[in-house]
This record gives sequence, C-alpha cells and structure tokens, in this order.
Amino acid sequence: MPPTGARPGSVLRVVLGVSGGIAAYKACELLRLFTESGHDVTVVPTAAALEFVGAPTWSALSGKPVSTDVWSNVHQVPHVRIGQSADLVVVTPATADVLAKAAHGLADDLLTNTLLTARCPVVFAPAMHTEMWEHPATRANVATLRERGCLVIEPAEGRLTGKDTGKGRLPEPPEIFDTCREVLARGTTTPDLAGRRVVVSAGGTREYLDPVRFLGNRSSGLQGYALARAAAARGAEVTLVAANTSLPDPAGVKVVRVETTGQLRDEVVSAAASADAVVMAAAPADFRPVDPSGTKIKKAADGFAPSIDLTQNPDILHELSTERARPGQVIVGFAAETGDDTGSVLDLARAKLARKGCDLLVVNDVSGGAVFGSPENEAVILAADGAAVEVPRGSKAALAHVVWDEVTRRLASR
Ligand SMILES: Cc1cc2nc3c(=O)[nH]c(=O)nc-3n(C[C@H](O)[C@H](O)[C@H](O)COP(=O)(O)O)c2cc1C
Repeated sequence: MPPTGARPGSVLRVVLGVSGGIAAYKACELLRLFTESGHDVTVVPTAAALEFVGAPTWSALSGKPVSTDVWSNVHQVPHVRIGQSADLVVVTPATADVLAKAAHGLADDLLTNTLLTARCPVVFAPAMHTEMWEHPATRANVATLRERGCLVIEPAEGRLTGKDTGKGRLPEPPEIFDTCREVLARGTTTPDLAGRRVVVSAGGTREYLDPVRFLGNRSSGLQGYALARAAAARGAEVTLVAANTSLPDPAGVKVVRVETTGQLRDEVVSAAASADAVVMAAAPADFRPVDPSGTKIKKAADGFAPSIDLTQNPDILHELSTERARPGQVIVGFAAETGDDTGSVLDLARAKLARKGCDLLVVNDVSGGAVFGSPENEAVILAADGAAVEVPRGSKAALAHVVWDEVTRRLASR
C-alpha cells in the first residue's frame, strides 16, 4: 500500500515495534531519541522481545502501557487503531521471524496486526546471525517487503550475539533514528532508488609529507554522509568511500575507509564498475609530494625550511566521467569555489562542469569557509544540459535529497 505521509505541523506518532532479538536493548536508546525529540511513541513488543527487555522498561520510557497481544483494552480496538493512526512504524530489531510474518501477512500478535493496518511508512531494522540473514527464505521475505515499499535497512557487519562476527548486526540507534527522520521528513519510504547501486565519496584526502605530516583540507564529510544516508533511505545499495572522517557509519551503508587520493581513486573506480550513479562529494587533494620521506623530516640546523616538490594527483571526477563504467551511469561532482579575478563562482563552476564532463555539478560558494563542518549548506546544481537548480540554505540532508531527485530523474530517462 502506498504510504499516506506524515501530517505536517503536528506531533508525529511513531510505533516502535520490538521483536525478540538480542539487540532489543538497543531499541531503548532509539525510543529515548524519539521521545526526547518530541515524538509520541507507542512501543509494541512481541512476546519474545519481552524475554529480552521487560514491559516495565518500555512502559516507563514511553509513558504508555504496552501489550503484545490483541486481547488487552479490546474496547479501544488496538489491533487496528495503533497502525491506522501511526505516522511511522519502525521495527527495531526485526527478527527473521517478524520479517517472515510481515512478508506473508500473518497477524497473530499486536505488532503483526499493526503492520497490516499501517498505511504510513514502515521501516525494518533487521538484526540476526549471518546465516539467518543470508538464508534464501529471509532474502525472499526482505525482497517482498522492499517491493511493497517498506524500507528494510541493511544490517551492519560486526560482532554478533556470541564471539562470532559477520553481517547481521543492528546499526547503531542514532543512525536508525537519522534514517527514520529522513523518512518522516519525506513522508514516504517510496524506494525510488531500489535496485540501484550508488557510490558516494566523502571527506578530505591526506597526502603525506612524512609518516606524521600531511597536506589535507577542511572537508568534514558531513555532506557525503548525508548523501549516503539519503540514498539508503530511498532504497539504494550504497557504498560510501570515506576519506579521513570520524563520523559514525550510516545505517545500511557499506563504508570503505581511505586516506590518500590514490586510495580514494582506486576504491571509487572499483565500486563504480557496477554502479548506476557516482556522487563525488569528497575533496581529493589536487597535489601530493613527489617524494614523501619515510622518516620524520627534522628541523634544519641552519633554520631553513625544506622545500617540498608537488605533483598533480589523478583527476577522479574527469576519469569517471570520460570513461563511464556503465552506459547511462550518472556522475555527479561537487565544486567548492570562491570567485576570483577570472570569474564569479558560477562562471568558474560552469567551466569546471564542461572540463570534467560529469552530468551534474553541485556548486558551493565556500568564500569564508562557511560550509565546512556546518550542518547546513546551500548550492546551485548545474546540469550538463544547461539546467540549474538553486537549493536555498537548509540542512545537508535536504540538499542530498535534491541531488538524488536530479539523479533519479536522469536514471529514469536513460
Ligand atoms: C538468546 C537469543 C537471541 C536471539 N537473537 C535473535 C536475533 O538477533 N535475531 C533473530 O532473528 N532471532 C533471534 N532469536 C530467535 C527469536 O527470538 C525467535 O525466532 C523468536 O521466535 C522471535 O519471535 P518474534 O519475531 O515474535 O519476536 C534469538 C533467540 C535467543 C534465545
């Protein structure tokens, strides 16, 4: 069923479904994040979830009674009302069992009834052992739920219940919360990037002069992370190539960490081979030392500073744009510009778009360094066909969605 979207301007009603996985305790933090940001949260645990975290915890943290079955407070018809009145249902953690029930329309407890009656966006954050996640039955259930428009967040890789590690770990609650906020802001989980593979680069590269010093830049990675999070919330399979960031991994995103421009180039080019779109939000260093020292460069006794010869780095955006790995691939660049004697920010950006050969160029005026590390951004998105979209000052998440709107339109027309 298509989601109806959230009512703007009112307190948003969130249903937090909790099923019986070891990660149920992490849903307490998610609940707190929702309540502290003013949402009205109804927790609907399964009976198995209560084996892990008891009803008093959910009740005390949400300020509401909780029940697992359809037989309490029957006069209020909770098995229908809770789902019907929700603006968002998020199931965290979602067990293999609850995914199977949801995919097949079973309704043997309050949570599964709620999932059938909800017409709002529905998000599942699965957590389970790798074998359960990779089982063909679970794969098919996840595919069914995604086809119906639910957002099923990819589990993270890492430590599982026992001493084992692998894919199946619940993403961190703040990241699930951010994804839910994206969904609430859009009012839909319509997966317009479902089945698409995208690559996003983020952060700033470092070029080492010696083992302890480097040439770097001020890129924080926030815009690239916002792009990766937004694409995952729209259903894409996302690889984020992150250069020297200290930000938490966005939920459902594969993160590859790099330091230098050479490493960034190799990882992006490799991931781009199977990608429908590549968004280069990272700031790669244009130059690197010709001959980095293997040992720390010492101060000279005569007081003279060493001179460092630089050579130009590979132009990754130009390479991706001119040697498209796949027909119809959409390539997006970012340009952090300050105007100079030779032209305005937009003049320089238009020339850069032509030089690079990409489809879209997101242009930031960085005079005064206002954008770096800020949660906000404003930009003009220039297109190779001459179009220009002005994005007024707003969150980096909002700009990310406008970029994906433009990418999605181009992918659909190719
Ligand atoms: C200690 C323990 C940990 C479990 N962890 C998970 C898990 O992380 N993911 C999962 O899908 N099932 C897990 N299970 C199995 C579920 O609890 C079981 O399938 C249960 O029937 C799920 O019920 P529910 O989906 O109604 O909550 C675990 C079971 C136990 C005993």
